[in-house]
Order: sequence, then structure tokens, then C-alpha cells
Amino acid sequence: MPRKIAAGNWKMHGDGAALAELDALIAAAAPGVEIVICPPATLIARMADRARGSAVAIGGQTCHHAATGAHTGDISAAMLVDAGATHVILGHSERRADHAESDAQIRAQAQASLAAGLIPILCVGETEAERDADVTLAVVTGQLAAAVPDLAPDTAGASLVVAYEPVWAIGTGRVPTTAQIAEVHGAIRAHLADRFGAAAQDIPLLYGGSVKPGNAAEIFAVANVDGALVGGASLKATDFSGIIGALSAA
Ligand code: 13P
Repeated sequence: MPRKIAAGNWKMHGDGAALAELDALIAAAAPGVEIVICPPATLIARMADRARGSAVAIGGQTCHHAATGAHTGDISAAMLVDAGATHVILGHSERRADHAESDAQIRAQAQASLAAGLIPILCVGETEAERDADVTLAVVTGQLAAAVPDLAPDTAGASLVVAYEPVWAIGTGRVPTTAQIAEVHGAIRAHLADRFGAAAQDIPLLYGGSVKPGNAAEIFAVANVDGALVGGASLKATDFSGIIGALSAA
């Protein structure tokens, strides 16, 4: 059985005043749920210090594939580890759109993350035009084929998390039907099983896109949904605790 994970992507939100929210999130921990908060890079070290020994892990939102070098503005996987991160979101659709990140770059970032000891939370998902054109499964499995690096089958379940985030559901309040989520998550599981065999059953698959306390239980009841990658509703512990509670009960 995969681990249950409630991951929060804070995107470009939060400053020092948000550290109090982290305390409330730590208090919202629930049995059987791993909580990962991915704040802006400026908060990673402070949050990791503050969360040490709690049920909350801290992650980055991207990293560079190189270990060091002349890459102004970038952060390496080893630097995230040095700051106290244990996870890193890779291939988020906002990185793909804003920074033209390709699947090949995301694969290199994932390899660097694994080498540094970080767990990548690798994001895939179709645009609205792609869903309308009925190519969702081809898009998602194509992203997986190109962006997921080779993993040792015996450790695959512990070293990778995959998040399915339909681009049109992010920040819009629109959510796929449970049948649509089940179809894509099933296809992701099958793709990973082709590559990694039985270990694919242990890779947590998260759904992301307008997850709220009010729809979380319905989403977590879908086959092959092992948690959520949450944007807006992860910023306030009062909202995120409802999602964590729903996952704990699922
Ligand atoms: P929202 O939960 O705000 O829709 O964002 C989802 C997301 O992009 C998480 O990575």
C-alpha cells in the first residue's frame, strides 16, 4: 500500500509571518498521513528548523539539475537538502509554462534530486485543450515516459511521488469527475507498473487541482488516489487540516 501524503504547494506566497501557520499545520497532523509543505525558497530553512521532529516535512518547489555552477537564481538539489528539505516538487505546470521546462529537464532534475536524497513529487497533467481533444491519457503517459527517471525497482515506492494535476483545474475551482480522476490515476499506475513492476503499487499518486476540505473525501475515495497536492487550501491550517483529516479517514 502506498503512503498517504497531503502535500501543500505554497507557490509564491508567504514570508516570515507565515511561520505561525506552520505551527498550526504541525498541530493538524493526523494518523497515517505524511504532511509535506513546500514553501518559497526563502522559507525552507526556517520552516525545516521549526518543523524538525514533527510530522511535517519540508520541500522545495523546483531545483536545478546541476550540483553547482553559473546558474543565477537557481538552487541545486543538494542545496535544498542542506536547507533541510526532504522533498521537491518537479515539473509543476506553472514551471513548465513560466520557465519553459521540458520533460527532459524535469527528468534531469529528478535524477539530481534522487542523487541528493530528495523525494521528487513529479507533476503531470493535461491542458483544457488537450482534454477537449481527448488526448489526456496520451499526454500524461507521455510526460511520465519522458520525465520519470529510471529507478531501482526495490526502492521505487520510497523514492518517488507522482502528482496528477490537470492544468485547467489548478486555481479555478473546477475539478474533474471522480471517473476522470480514476481513469488517469489508473493509467499512471499501469504505466509505472510497466516500468517498475510490483514496486509501482507503492508509489504514492496524488491528485492536485482545486482540492478543498469540502471535496477532499470524495477525491480520496477514488481508486489509486493516495493523497493530494494542494495549492490555495494549503496556505491556511484551518483549510488544510480538513484535507488532512479526510485523508486520514480515507
Ligand atoms: P490549487 O489547489 O490552488 O488549485 O493549486 C493546485 C496546485 O497547483 C498544487 O500544486
